[in-house]
Amino acid sequence: MDHHATTPLDPRVLAVMMPFLQDHFANPSSQHPAGQAIAAKIELARDQVAQVLNAEPRDILFTSGATESINLGLLGAARHDREKGHHIITTETEHPAVLDCCAQLEQEGFAITRLPVNTHGQLDLEQLQSAIRDETILVSVMYANHEIGTIQDIAAIGAITRQRKITLLCDATQAATTEPLDVQALNVDLLALSGHKLYGPKGVGLLYLRRKKPRIRLQPMTFGGGQEQGLRSGTLNAPGILGLAEACRIAHAERDTTHRLLRGLHDRLQTQLRQIAPDCLFNGHPSNKIPGNLSVSFPGVDGKQLLDQLPGIALSMGSACTSALPQPSTVLRAIGLSTDLARGTLRFGLGRGNTPAEIDRVCERIQETLSA
Ligand SMILES: Cc1ncc(COP(=O)(O)O)c(C=O)c1O
Repeated sequence: MDHHATTPLDPRVLAVMMPFLQDHFANPSSQHPAGQAIAAKIELARDQVAQVLNAEPRDILFTSGATESINLGLLGAARHDREKGHHIITTETEHPAVLDCCAQLEQEGFAITRLPVNTHGQLDLEQLQSAIRDETILVSVMYANHEIGTIQDIAAIGAITRQRKITLLCDATQAATTEPLDVQALNVDLLALSGHKLYGPKGVGLLYLRRKKPRIRLQPMTFGGGQEQGLRSGTLNAPGILGLAEACRIAHAERDTTHRLLRGLHDRLQTQLRQIAPDCLFNGHPSNKIPGNLSVSFPGVDGKQLLDQLPGIALSMGSACTSALPQPSTVLRAIGLSTDLARGTLRFGLGRGNTPAEIDRVCERIQETLSA
């Protein structure tokens, strides 16, 4: 029930990776035939990913995951364009990968505007328009939220940033398996994905970097062998990259099926939770959200205690807890939840492998625990 944290490796992905973990281990930077054979496979993987994103192959940079992609995109673009301006806009509900990069840039002298969201977690486009200044160089908005699932209107945000000649970075990590990822339709300039959130391997991800119309430039963060067009030095993770490409292919081919499956499981879960706790509140946008997400607040319930009584069920709270003092998450605070309600919040992240029987079992266990 915690697929927002990570997803299992699809056996089809593992099958693609195995030969490159076992026999074909050459370094793709090597000039001998074994190395060049792997390099050719990586270029095929790049083509495959580019097709899924409707991008040019050279616009795809392989990284170690979304965190690295966001760091490279956000820090790299900001530092490169510093002469053009020093203002960056983001939202209060981004993942720490974005928020902490912004905090770092603030220390380097950039001005950061963190826009609020409404009670559903959506960004107001007029507020975005009015936050833009002459010196704004970059906007970073996530596609789908990792706690409440709300989807932002990235295409509309991109239309605004494109018109104002501002770079748009989109953290699409949680949207990867259920939402369209066409970077042209979305009007994005930079887009981050993580392999392990789309049934691929951990330790691999990608950054889409627009090279034309407009051309976005980055300052590199790692220096060395000059891999990935000099922007991300270091020996390429060949098995991971080939696995990521296969996971992207499957996600794309099965997007509608996955969406329907997760929507069905979501609705089953929501209906049962409503029966168990009629006063519970569902967070995030009621319809405009990723279908696998259900964030639910139980008034008067301590979420941590509830989770402790559900051993064997992998679930998260909507809030990040320090050991003694649970602090409500920034996301739940941003949508206006009280501390108490945030403390009684659980985050379900449903995935392709979940079954209706599992939903029923989890609901039974929650009912038993709440009525004990
Ligand atoms: C929205 C979002 N962005 C970025 C990340 C970071 O991904 P990774 O840990 O794979 O680098 C996550 C992971 O939880 C996420 O949910």
